[in-house]
Amino acid sequence: MQLPAIKRGKFITFEGIDGAGKSTHVAWFAELLGERLKPFGHQVVLTREPGGTVLGESLRELLLHQTMHLETEALLMFAARREHLAQVITPALSKGDWVISDRFTDASFAYQGGGRGLPIEKLNQLEQWVHPELQPDLTLLFDLPTETARQRLSNARSPDKFEREDGDFFEKVRNEYLRRAEQSPQRFLVIDGALSIASIREILSDKIANLLDQSIANG
Ligand code: ADP
Ligand code: TYD
Repeated sequence: MQLPAIKRGKFITFEGIDGAGKSTHVAWFAELLGERLKPFGHQVVLTREPGGTVLGESLRELLLHQTMHLETEALLMFAARREHLAQVITPALSKGDWVISDRFTDASFAYQGGGRGLPIEKLNQLEQWVHPELQPDLTLLFDLPTETARQRLSNARSPDKFEREDGDFFEKVRNEYLRRAEQSPQRFLVIDGALSIASIREILSDKIANLLDQSIANG
């Protein structure tokens, strides 16, 4: 029996405050999606921000470990993103691959905008400049109270520049993520990070089934 065609790849992003649980699932999600897409002849590209290219990974080192002016931080995030789009995201989507990015522009709105207080208008301008046409097809937002996220992180790893910020900063980051999710309910799926890992995987696996059904229906 011939399989129905899926023509277009989708762009999926993972977001959330540090410690909300995104890294626990992103590679698993990419692998499961890749298996499901194989019969249709599509591949999954798993990437991350800041990073995803040689230049982007160098910028990530600076961004995660050096103190800098807030606008410099925002500009470098978008500079890394410009390269990421040119070298990885756009070419992959153009040939029909699916792209999963561990963070994208919502993180700039949440961290540089919400957390650090850069005016949203400036971020809108950068977004307009760097990717006027492209938005993720789906954004999985891992949401968790900041105190729980902090406790989880304290057991997990040594903190980078962002992870050393205080609870108030993460409260603002979280609120900005939730505000954006409310603004674009079609694009966001908010996942309760307090659920067990197994329950979250069930939700993610249902979402993959749902995405494939949609893609088959729409080509
Ligand atoms: P993030 O990538 O969002 O910063 P991680 O996935 O690294 O967060 O998770 C932070 C810590 O919390 C890790 O030690 C991880 O094992 C743990 N963790 C992740 N998800 C859950 C969960 N649903 N329940 C309990 N602990 C979790
Ligand atoms: P993250 O992706 O969470 O990596 P890890 O799980 O290895 O810590 O770390 C990237 C950090 O960069 C995170 O604290 C959020 C921050 N960030 C921004 O502030 N703005 C952005 O636009 C992006 C993409 C990330």
